[in-house]
Amino acid sequence: MTASLVYVLNGPNLNRLGSREPEIYGSQTLENVAEVVTREAGLLGLAADFRQTNDEAELIGWIHEAVDRGADVILNPAAFTHYAYAVRDACALVTSSGARLIEIHLSNPAAREEFRHTSVIAGVATGTIAGFGSASYLLALRALAG
Ligand code: DQA
Repeated sequence: MTASLVYVLNGPNLNRLGSREPEIYGSQTLENVAEVVTREAGLLGLAADFRQTNDEAELIGWIHEAVDRGADVILNPAAFTHYAYAVRDACALVTSSGARLIEIHLSNPAAREEFRHTSVIAGVATGTIAGFGSASYLLALRALAG
């Protein structure tokens, strides 16, 4: 049986994990996270395609690609979470196509500054996982595999 494809997409500044506010985001680099996610996906019978961009247009293009390939998406939209309506509309294409999209965060935005309390993505996501550090990615994989 071929493994189901899952796009694991990461938004702006997440390429700085490890050195970016480690007291909030932890000390693992994005490369570390990618490695652990790819391994765990394999164990769950999934094939993870792990990517990061600082560019909204590129992220939207990748979400369209996931729709065209019928893939589920795990998305850490980073700061796009809070204001990027075009990313939200792209996410809606995923869930309205019947695929699943899980919004994830390393930190718990609801427990942080006021502007982080709004997610424009949440309303079109299948579900949200936040606040578990890099384990948020693994919990999302398990939700998709289960
Ligand atoms: C984040 C939370 C966002 O508010 C922030 O802009 C990020 C990371 C998280 O994973 O906790 O860049 O998505």
